[in-house]
Amino acid sequence: MCGIVGILGKTPVATNLVDALRRLEYRGYDSAGIATVESGTLVRRRAEGKLRNLEKRLLTEPLEGHTGIGHTRWATHGRPTERNAHPHMTAEVSVVHNGIIENFRELRADLEAKGHTFDSDTDTEAVVHLITHELHAGKSPVEAVRAALQHLQGAFALGIIFAGEDDLMIAARQGSPLAIGHGTGEMYLGSDAIALAPFTDVITYLEEGDWAVMHRSGAEIFDKDGVRVDRPSVKSVASSLLVDKGNHRHFMAKEIHEQPEVISHTLANYMDMVSGSVRFPELGIDLSKINRVTISACGTAYYAGLVAKYWIEKVARVPVEIDVASEMRYREAPLPADGLAVFVSQSGETADTLATLRYCKANGQRIASIVNVRTSTIARESHAVLPTLAGPEIGVASTKAFTCQLSVLACLAIAIGRARGSINAAQEIELVKGLTELPRHIAGLIRNEQPFIAIAQELSKARDVLYLGRGTSYPIALEGALKLKEISYIHAEGYAAGELKHGPIALIDENVPVIVVAPEDDLFDKTISNMQEVAARGGQIILISDAPAEKISCKLAAHIHMPKVSAFTTPLLYAIPTQLIAYHTAVVMGTDVDQPRNLAKSVTVE
Ligand code: G6P
Repeated sequence: MCGIVGILGKTPVATNLVDALRRLEYRGYDSAGIATVESGTLVRRRAEGKLRNLEKRLLTEPLEGHTGIGHTRWATHGRPTERNAHPHMTAEVSVVHNGIIENFRELRADLEAKGHTFDSDTDTEAVVHLITHELHAGKSPVEAVRAALQHLQGAFALGIIFAGEDDLMIAARQGSPLAIGHGTGEMYLGSDAIALAPFTDVITYLEEGDWAVMHRSGAEIFDKDGVRVDRPSVKSVASSLLVDKGNHRHFMAKEIHEQPEVISHTLANYMDMVSGSVRFPELGIDLSKINRVTISACGTAYYAGLVAKYWIEKVARVPVEIDVASEMRYREAPLPADGLAVFVSQSGETADTLATLRYCKANGQRIASIVNVRTSTIARESHAVLPTLAGPEIGVASTKAFTCQLSVLACLAIAIGRARGSINAAQEIELVKGLTELPRHIAGLIRNEQPFIAIAQELSKARDVLYLGRGTSYPIALEGALKLKEISYIHAEGYAAGELKHGPIALIDENVPVIVVAPEDDLFDKTISNMQEVAARGGQIILISDAPAEKISCKLAAHIHMPKVSAFTTPLLYAIPTQLIAYHTAVVMGTDVDQPRNLAKSVTVE
């Protein structure tokens, strides 16, 4: 959840450390810090808040060392203050850490009893003192880290430097991602390859349990048993990925506008638009024989999975079990023999999703993952990887990754349906045609943002907002509410429209806007009845629908007129207005759209 970097450079590294941290800010931005080795001594600068605060600090108090580590934090233990910011250090060793040391309390108590004094409330500081303790016992830095790692429980990625050691950095990975970058006479460390993109594209990913001893001349990698191992170097494509806002004010706006293109790319990867058929990669399982699909994910990715439940059950007639990964991982859910388990994750690093994947794998499931980062841990631990071709998503609120996940899941539903014979070739052509037309409709919808800006002005005055939908529009209502609350901080809830009368209707009055997601499908009339129940109680209705005015008998505060598309594809299209409503409301509210408070893009803690 935090981002870590390290550089063994030929010149002072502070500027490049900050540059790399900027690319990792999506992982957390509560505080930041760097430490370098200067004339054999460890020196650090830290600052509360965003990276620019650290940058300002470095202008007046620069660091000169050629060996350094850096960190951008998403607080897990201890408030986001400078005191708790990384790097943590003693006179001998400095550490940056991503993840959670679960046994830090025991370690801390033990080390304090041995005379160590702690300066912060963090779990990380236990690692610093543990290594220091081993150094005091006479061990070399490498031996001290090797010994300390034996005592650590939990998920972590670590970058470690030492006083008096200008050509040494040690990295360790257990449950949190870590990449080593190879330069010419320089070496790099980062939470991902994008952080290192300006410096090198030759990357070695550490495997679970690995730790590495790095010098400017290269890295020696050891596995969890301390055995020297060779891990391949790969050429990363991260450097070719443009990470800027283009003409947009925020990354989120840019990413919303990229959707026609990235959905086209993603769909083209899974279907043959000419013949009108889905061309799905081999999953290593006979799709005609599966009798259950298990889906798990977190956040927005979970809502993509929830849409897929409706799709797969309807199109392929296979029961789908779905749960948020943070619940499923501990539920000890019984799983069918030879079942298919599908994991959805933009980052491919979400800790709960990964843990559930491992549970399903250990219980004999065939694992397919839908990820946006192909080199991620979830991708690497899956039997089959189904990439979304969304490109890097920087805005913390997921938009294009969500619709690309839906694109892959739609193709999966069709592939299973075809394999099982629940749809025929003509029906497949119809479904594929609907998907093929989507990017054009989305492009049309985002061309004029004025209606969304007008709605945003009204929503910004609300304290609570409800979203209603039925069928596949129900997960879109949930996702719309999530989007609004995470970036505008307005309380919003999504409900199945039929559930309204079982409680939430009590909240309705003229101050509560109700956003109704209602394509004119088989369920339209039912949803409209629920909408009338809202109207009768004075609720302000914002309808997102392709239905003509004569089909809507009650007064609306606003109507987003949607183009007619095939019923199967409506969740993909109807997600777009909910994104634009959330985006413009956040802009009106003046919040930090791309980096909303308390959130992080990649959640590698449970
Ligand atoms: C965080 C992000 C969400 C995302 C969720 C799951 O909460 O803010 O946008 O949906 O994590 O992340 P994943 O990378 O697994 O899709």
